[in-house]
Formats: sequence, C-alpha cells, structure tokens
Amino acid sequence: MAAAELSIIKPINPTTKFGRPTSKFNTLRPHSPSHFRVFATSQPTTTTTSSSATKPRPKKSVKTAIKETLLTPRFYTTDFDEMERLFNTEINKNLNQSEFEALLNEFKTDYNQTHFVRNPEFKEAADKIEGPLRQIFVEFLERSCTAEFSGFLLYKELGRRLKKTNPVVAEIFSLMSRDEARHAGFLNKGLSDFNLALDLGFLTKARKYTFFKPKFIFYATYLSEKIGYWRYITIYRHLKANPQFQVYPIFKYFENWCQDENRHGDFFSALMKAQPQFLNDWKAKLWARFFCLSVYVTMYLNDCQRTAFYEGIGLSTKEFDMHVIIETNRTTARIFPAVLDVRPEFKRKLDRMVEINRS
Ligand SMILES: [Fe+2]
Ligand SMILES: [Fe+2]
Repeated sequence: MAAAELSIIKPINPTTKFGRPTSKFNTLRPHSPSHFRVFATSQPTTTTTSSSATKPRPKKSVKTAIKETLLTPRFYTTDFDEMERLFNTEINKNLNQSEFEALLNEFKTDYNQTHFVRNPEFKEAADKIEGPLRQIFVEFLERSCTAEFSGFLLYKELGRRLKKTNPVVAEIFSLMSRDEARHAGFLNKGLSDFNLALDLGFLTKARKYTFFKPKFIFYATYLSEKIGYWRYITIYRHLKANPQFQVYPIFKYFENWCQDENRHGDFFSALMKAQPQFLNDWKAKLWARFFCLSVYVTMYLNDCQRTAFYEGIGLSTKEFDMHVIIETNRTTARIFPAVLDVRPEFKRKLDRMVEINRS
C-alpha cells in the first residue's frame, strides 16, 4: 500500500468483533487511542550505514501526536470467513489458478530484495532540512509509514487466513506483506534521521480498524496501490528532471519501490476478475465510482493541507494531484466497471471542497 488512503468511513474497534492482526514490530505500549504516537529512544536503530554505527547518536526527542482526523491513513479489517469462501477453488470456478501461480512466481523473484539499503546521505540531508519544511517532512514520513504499515497488517492477516483454502493466493498476500513491511521499515528509518521513530507495535494495538466487506477491500486497496504507484513514479520522474529539489535521498528509491505497488495493484486486478459479481452490475458501477471519488477527494484535501511539502520539492500541489488522479483513473478504467469523469469541472469542485475544508 502507499501514501494515499481512503478515509471517509468511520473506524470500528476490532477487539469487539474481529481478530486483530499480529505484528512483528516492536513491543506493545500503553495507549491513547485518538493519537498516533512517535516515541523517543536513546537506543540506536538498526542501520546499514557504517558511519552511523561508530558515531554517537543524538538522543531522540519526544514527539507525541498527529491528531487523528477523517483524513488520516487508516488500518483495515474485513470479513475473513467470506474471504475464505471467495477464494475456495471448489466454490468459485472463476479463479484462474494458473494466473495466480504466474503472479506468485513474480513475487517470489523479489526484485527489490537488495534495493532498500541506506547510506550516510540520509542523515546528512535530514540535518540540512530546517524550519517549517522539517516539520512537514516528518509528517510526510509518519503518514507514509502508517499507510505502508496498514497494508502490511491487512495482507499478513489475509496470508494467514487463506492458507488452507487457497495456498497460492495466501502466499502472494504474505509476500505482499513482506514488501509493505520493507516499505514501512524504510520510512521509519527515515524518521530516525530526524531523531524520531513510529512505534508500530503500539499502533497495531492502539489504533481503531476500519471494517470493509471484502468487495470494498478490493476496490479500496486496488485504488490505493495504483494511486500509490502514480504518486511515487511522478515524484521520482520530477526529481530526476529537477535534481536541485532532491532534498532527501528517499525519493531516489521510488522508481523500484513503485514497481512493488504496481505489482500489488495488478494482483488485486486479478482477484477482482475472479469475482465478476463485484464488477458486472449497476451496483458495482456505483460503488466503483464512489471509491474513486473518495480516494481522489481524500488525497486532494490531504495534499492541499500540506502544500509546503510539495512546493518544498518543487511541485505544484494541485497540478501534481490532478496528474495523479487522471493517470490513476485511466489505469483503473481497465478493471473497474466505471470510473469518474475527471475533466476540468471535477477539479473546480475539488477546489471548492478545499475552500470549505479551510473555513
Ligand atoms: Fe507499499
Ligand atoms: Fe503496496
């Protein structure tokens, strides 16, 4: 999963009804459910940088919160029993197992196994980012890390729950959770350059989970992966063409990183093809358009609250977002039964929402 998240529907507390995914990250800590928590520690974090292993680290400072709002990235849970039925090859004859086996081989190849290796440039670049841009950078890393980690939790649990019913699909989910753990971990190491870290174990326990029925998980997650792909590749290409805005090396990793998101999206596309009942009637058309609308609006409102970040790397926030929306919409039209009309009138309405959101 990637930085863009759907956030329109209110979360529930999963402890009452649904199993909670487990996390391999960190230990659990006492919680304050309405906030993210960024914890401070004087322990050095694991890093591949040789210089950071020898130099004494500054003590990490305490930072307590981003307030959780309708627009913050969420964690998801679903009806795992229904998922098991949907992926049971005896019940569902539409499952194209050879396509899933081909996808599984792609995931096993693990193209980015050695991609996420840090170097001393990260800390040096972070130290040079000052003032309001520093704060907005930290927020970007926190939000992106949370969104990636959200994907990790959901995919890990799906990998676990589908093991008996459909081992091939289950293994793909597990390998996708591997990718998302890598992405979240890399962003969290980025936070350590700013002397912070997200306590992901604490988040796993403390945050509320939004429940989506499987068909909504498919629409929302497909969109999240594809919009994530377009966001990462657009930032990467922009900074390659305009290296004077390359203020922090994490963006150099986006080219390979976004290919992970693209593969994740393609897997969801294959999953939806195997569930034609979610694609072939008037209700599916309405839901498809609703999810496009929700995802695009959430991203636009979020980004327009953080223009300093996009301007800090030389982008016009609204132009960037419209490019991402148009490209995501075009990609999505290949699988969704309907998408939005994103001609200029749509942008005028988005801008109107930005104004209302400000007042
Ligand atoms: Fe990801
Ligand atoms: Fe992903």
